[in-house]
Amino acid sequence: MNVSFEKVPGPIVRPLAPAFGAEVRGVDLRALDETGFEAIQAALNRYSVIVLPDQELSPPDQINFTKRLGPLHPKFFNPQTSVPGFVELSVLSNMKVDGRPIGDADAGRFWHSDMAFKKIPDIYSLLYALEVPVRDGEVLGDTLFASTAAAYDGLPAAMKKRISGLTAIHSIMTTFGKRKQVSEEKRQELPDVEHPVVRTHPITGRKCIYVSEGHTASIVGMPEDESRELLKLLHEHTIQPQYMYRHKWRVGDLLIWDNCATLHRAEHDYGDIPRRMHRGGVLGSVPV
Ligand code: SIN
Repeated sequence: MNVSFEKVPGPIVRPLAPAFGAEVRGVDLRALDETGFEAIQAALNRYSVIVLPDQELSPPDQINFTKRLGPLHPKFFNPQTSVPGFVELSVLSNMKVDGRPIGDADAGRFWHSDMAFKKIPDIYSLLYALEVPVRDGEVLGDTLFASTAAAYDGLPAAMKKRISGLTAIHSIMTTFGKRKQVSEEKRQELPDVEHPVVRTHPITGRKCIYVSEGHTASIVGMPEDESRELLKLLHEHTIQPQYMYRHKWRVGDLLIWDNCATLHRAEHDYGDIPRRMHRGGVLGSVPV
């Protein structure tokens, strides 16, 4: 009798950009064994942003996989935009049903690190693409990433010394508050927080620049002008092309990023062309 064995491929990791970012192929997240999971964790620690293409994930599949990375973010900023029946996931979309938005159409307009305005921010975010906007054959709605770890490494020694030991205030009011009504209740729930300007990654130990245009309000103990100037300088340094990766989405991509080692921003260049994603988050630790 002839017995043939199907060869089941393990994860194949391919770097996507010089400083960080990798594609991980050959895995089905619905049936991932421990070896495959460890390979994904290792790729995430090594590359900070990983894309797993061709996934077919229902909301429970996405939640089950997310839980393996750590405790789920308990409540999203806007519970009204969660996936129906699954508060653990939020919908990012410009689409409407019966004239009502099905999700958050505005997420990620500014460079930021998810939930940096909280005392315990998310360490990982997971975004799954269900509909991707295309105009005249061109994919729109890219997500851009900047490596805060590579950017820190690239700072001149004098700047590393200057920012060592500094802390900054992160606030929901920095950009959200200027564009949207933030209720008094939400302000009470999310008071401003202070985090180190240079954050040490809780797993890799790498130093990362932990300020962003989206959430950082000021440097503690610094005159306003000087603080604004320093934040601008760090921002412009971090988003230089050598520290960047631009993700062009395909339906079925699950993107996982590390919110200590990267910043991100979404392109809002697709108008009414439908874009629909499901996002989950993994709670991290107090930044040090
Ligand atoms: C975000 O999480 O900031 C949004 C990312 C995206 O929609 O591409």
